[in-house]
Amino acid sequence: MIQLIRGFRDILPGESERWQAIEDTARAVLSDFGFREIRIPILEATELFTRSIGENTDIVEKEMYTFEDRKGDFVTLRPEATASIVRSYIQHKLYAGDPFHKLFTTGPMFRRERPQKGRYRQFYQINAEVLGSDSPLIDAQLVFILKILFSKLGVSDTTAHINSLGCPVCRPAFKKALIDHVVGMDTKLCVDCARRKTKNPLRLLDCKVPSCREAMAKAPDMMAFLCPDCREHFQRFKTALSVLGVAYVTDPRLVRGLDYYTRSTFEIQTNALGAQNAIAGGGRYDGLVKALGGPEMPATGFAIGLDRLAEILKNDTELQTGHPKVFIAAIGRESREKAFEWVCRLNEKGIPAEMDFGDRGLKAQMKRADKLASRYVIIVGEKELSAKTAVLRNMSEAQQEAIPFSMLIKMVIERIANAS
Ligand code: HAM
Repeated sequence: MIQLIRGFRDILPGESERWQAIEDTARAVLSDFGFREIRIPILEATELFTRSIGENTDIVEKEMYTFEDRKGDFVTLRPEATASIVRSYIQHKLYAGDPFHKLFTTGPMFRRERPQKGRYRQFYQINAEVLGSDSPLIDAQLVFILKILFSKLGVSDTTAHINSLGCPVCRPAFKKALIDHVVGMDTKLCVDCARRKTKNPLRLLDCKVPSCREAMAKAPDMMAFLCPDCREHFQRFKTALSVLGVAYVTDPRLVRGLDYYTRSTFEIQTNALGAQNAIAGGGRYDGLVKALGGPEMPATGFAIGLDRLAEILKNDTELQTGHPKVFIAAIGRESREKAFEWVCRLNEKGIPAEMDFGDRGLKAQMKRADKLASRYVIIVGEKELSAKTAVLRNMSEAQQEAIPFSMLIKMVIERIANAS
């Protein structure tokens, strides 16, 4: 039997309803905050990601699904969405006229990481990007949106971690200080850190390997290197979060895994998921539009990990929908044809209804209705056919009534409307 590829998953009915509920809530919240949807391709030119995410990142060095297509062009399954959104913003000159845009997109991303709980090779993100403003108030608004969304979904036990990574004025001195700090420490650094220590020294700060942690325990702190503009920007970010009532932890080790970040970065972390503790991450990327060939244009955004969020909400029964409201138990071929018409009429009116298409007895059908957690069951057999009256049973109250065929659909709709 052909099985799916390692790190890839099927999201089956029973789980997909929860995913839908999360996506619907996210769409509603993002729309309230003025975001509009953008849909971007899954496959892009490889160069888009090498130039934006950075040559010396884990993603570009070892995680991208890159291949040569039939014409010899190098293409990549997108490992994230920010680069594509920026490409689209530039390509369609969305900056002409009013450069300020609030955009969101959802969909699958691909990274060939080592699969484990909360980490997949195809995973899904809800992405929100604000282009055209350098205001720290927007950064605060993004963290606020995440807080609102998670609380609407009933996800508690989250902490907002924030940091500033400075700008091209102040970051080079910080990088140099980090490189100087690890001089002579080669034996303590893991293979990855030893390799990237000069090209991407920031990543040394969030390496989880114990000996690297030890090596970096007394490493320099970006806060001490921020230029006056970045310092003020970060202060205003923090003040705006406080005004909005968002609790946060300043985390100087929050360097993020993509190279395009400048100034504010943030992550929403949770204790509910073990090692993969980030359910959303983002930050400012003021240099990216220009770096990809557009005008000088500040921007900021976040991505939520949908797989991780769905995992946390696994036990939330409120999000387990998908049960039919009505099950029609029909005995005999003629009754089944009647039932079929009613199912279609109810479905047409937006009421989930189901029936058995096989030739099973009443007991077996009632058992199935129970399993499907249907609120009502309509029973129709020979006796009902000759009387032109069906039995409507309210399953939770164990009550039933006889209803003439001619009024059945109307009355079922009424009962359901009154009950909800
Ligand atoms: P990221 O931190 O790489 O940022 O990913 C954002 C979120 O996607 C993570 O916090 C996590 O919840 C989820 N995620 C990442 N990798 C995986 C995986 N292998 N399996 C399951 N979930 C995963 C970005 O992608 C940036 N583009 C975010 C951004 C938008 N920054 C500015 N704008």
